[in-house]
Amino acid sequence: MAVLSTIQCVFSVVLVLFASPLPCLNVRAYQRPVMVQQTGKVLPKPQMMTVSAEAYTLAMSSFKFTYGSSSEMCDIVDQAFRRYYDLIFDVDGPKKAPKVPESMAELTVLQVMVKEPCKGAYPSLESSENYTLTVTAPMGMLVADSAWGVLRGLETFSQLIYRTDDGTMIINKTTVDDFPRFAHRGILLDTSRHFIPLKYIKQNLDAMAYNKFNVFHWHIVDDQSFPYQSVVFPDLSAKGAFNPYTHLYTQEDVKDVIEYSRLRGIRVVPEFDTPGHTASWGAGLPGFLTPCYDGSTPNGKYYAANPMLNTTYDYMTKLLQEVKDVFPDKHVHLGGDEVNFNCWKSNPDITKFMEKMGFGTDYSKLEQYYIKNILDISTSIGRDYIVWQEVLDNGVQVAKDTVVEVWKSNPPVPTEMATVTAKGLRAILSSCWYLNYISYGDDWGKYYSCEPQDFTGTQAQKDLVIGGEACMWGEYVDGTNLIARLWPRASAVAERLWSNKDVKNMADATVRMDEQRCRMVRRGLNAEPLHPGFCQFEYD
Ligand SMILES: *[C@@H]1O[C@H](CO)[C@@H](O)[C@H](O)[C@H]1NC(C)=O
Ligand SMILES: *[C@@H]1O[C@H](CO)[C@@H](O)[C@H](O)[C@H]1NC(C)=O
Ligand SMILES: *[C@@H]1O[C@H](CO)[C@@H](O)[C@H](O)[C@H]1NC(C)=O
Repeated sequence: MAVLSTIQCVFSVVLVLFASPLPCLNVRAYQRPVMVQQTGKVLPKPQMMTVSAEAYTLAMSSFKFTYGSSSEMCDIVDQAFRRYYDLIFDVDGPKKAPKVPESMAELTVLQVMVKEPCKGAYPSLESSENYTLTVTAPMGMLVADSAWGVLRGLETFSQLIYRTDDGTMIINKTTVDDFPRFAHRGILLDTSRHFIPLKYIKQNLDAMAYNKFNVFHWHIVDDQSFPYQSVVFPDLSAKGAFNPYTHLYTQEDVKDVIEYSRLRGIRVVPEFDTPGHTASWGAGLPGFLTPCYDGSTPNGKYYAANPMLNTTYDYMTKLLQEVKDVFPDKHVHLGGDEVNFNCWKSNPDITKFMEKMGFGTDYSKLEQYYIKNILDISTSIGRDYIVWQEVLDNGVQVAKDTVVEVWKSNPPVPTEMATVTAKGLRAILSSCWYLNYISYGDDWGKYYSCEPQDFTGTQAQKDLVIGGEACMWGEYVDGTNLIARLWPRASAVAERLWSNKDVKNMADATVRMDEQRCRMVRRGLNAEPLHPGFCQFEYD
């Protein structure tokens, strides 16, 4: 029934383009202009922005970015100048000769001032992304502590520029004073359920930069496949990748992703999820998984890391040491979610080990023992960790600087956020941002209205919420549909995580979402449409 009325309603929307409105319509798309208007709206909405009615033109032949005389200089900013010049002037795209009105002043320079040294820098959780931007002709100014602030400011600058119908490029006189509300603004990609080719990982990193996301949570391996080519354990991918020649991230590929991310101010946090979610590790690392039994005989199946063997921890030490050497970020995600105890319960050696350790029949104690060992390994090799909420739910002692990722809805999210932060631990939220779940229609409003600090707790507890992540689990997603499924829906999450808490008016957000979607299409991303209508720049 619901489907039928939806179809009728959609049909009516189509009819309405030719006739008068029909009564069934509660469809929001209706009140929107059919053509998405480009007026230089910025998403995520800056903390403070003043736009005046005075407007300037820009021209490809005369505009340039420059450093201020006392500015630090570095590759990050140099490359951003090139990228944004191309994005603004659409160098690869269709060209239209602009007709510049004689009376309009021209913006010819954006002068950039970076206060801190930035050569070779990597972004971190502590990085400043603050910036101020002043657009006045003939020279605008962008000032930031760090190169990361410059990147965010250049994105804002590029979004302020729009084209009139005759192709004239316009930017209004504007001042912006901006900074992120949360320091951790992530996207999770799952490259195990399906392999995602580098090309699409990079497109997604571009989209993240356009929306001021700053963490790529790379859920790189899981039960289904192990595409990460390890140096210390090459058999993991040789025997665990879908195809060890084509469906593989080599060391070169990983370096490439990390560098591409760095230049966009994006941290790469890899996840090596254990003890569960490890089926693909079994073939390449014999003895790592627990043999499951039927009665007193092994049944040929394996499940989860074997927590009773010292070799398990030796393997993990070697692997995590390599991960530390390959991924520069201070954090690694150690997983720890969804451990099923049935196989451990079936194994008589584990039963004996449980007795020896005094765990009785409480298998969550065994899980705690495993996780505690892994967390200690991570600490000893110098990596802080992020874990899924179960680690804490199951009572594992974690280090004070642990970040806990809240993803379940039971216990209810506000309860869990309060529990995590009451322990003095930092939290990131993803429960309400599983963008892999889809339904018919325009669903970004529910992502937009999710508020990470919406729980009962002290200000100190609220301050321990450092952000959140939009997750794109890969069961039904690969390179063919990743970008369209994630964007622009994730833009709603971007605004929630960057903008002021009070920015929550849906009607205002709608016009920004529309323009942002259209902008992403113009920049060559196949971001999906939000409603019936059109964007001047169709994807080709
Ligand atoms: C930008 O300038 C144009 C041209 O003067 C003006 O029509 C428009 O209203 C301005 N935009 C804003 C948001 O003030
Ligand atoms: C960024 O700006 C905000 C608001 O002015 C301020 O609270 C914060 O301390 C600034 N961060 C840095 C790293 O300067
Ligand atoms: C495993 O390591 C523990 C702690 O180092 C040690 O006491 C135990 O004897 C080791 N077990 C085996 C089978 O080597």
